[in-house]
Amino acid sequence: MQNRVAESYTIMSDFVKKLDKSMTVLKIVKMGDPVLSVKSVPVTDFNDDKLQQRISDMVDTMRHYQGVGLVAPQTGLSQQIVVLEVARNTRYPEAESIALDILINPQITAYSEETEAAWEGCLSLPGLRGRITRSTGISYQAFNAAGEPVTETVYGFHARIIQHEIDHLNGILYPQRLDNLLEFGFEDSLPAFQNLDKDSNI
Ligand code: NI
Repeated sequence: MQNRVAESYTIMSDFVKKLDKSMTVLKIVKMGDPVLSVKSVPVTDFNDDKLQQRISDMVDTMRHYQGVGLVAPQTGLSQQIVVLEVARNTRYPEAESIALDILINPQITAYSEETEAAWEGCLSLPGLRGRITRSTGISYQAFNAAGEPVTETVYGFHARIIQHEIDHLNGILYPQRLDNLLEFGFEDSLPAFQNLDKDSNI
């Protein structure tokens, strides 16, 4: 397990080195584009240079737009690739930080019975927010960028991000999960949203 963690860090730091050399910011596809409403295709070849380049470009793109997660379909590629990262934010020091993570072909294997409603945003719906009820904990299985299987159980915002991203891979955008259409609107106009962290586009 420790080795796996160490390997993951090596892979992550390689991505960071690549960032220094060349930043590639991909175009983000917005709601309405058909690529966001179909189930995306599992990755089968982990040795493909194009896969590693796409992951690196997705990390660049997520950071550029200050998102906390991004899936390949949001960059126009219908494949089951997720990148996520929550950087420590000095303005919100209490917010949990999550190290850069890459999930390929992820699947949720268990949901907590307990649920929680919270505001979500999405880079494919710029300026909009919706209050979405999700499980407070999930277990998932996936492959990392090296093609090794991983299983994890995560809670809170981390669990929310992964549920949002796996929805994307199944062609579901968060408005389809709304309990109440009145809890959906523009972030500069929703009274209930005004005092919340506005940087957490998933
Ligand atoms: Ni999203």
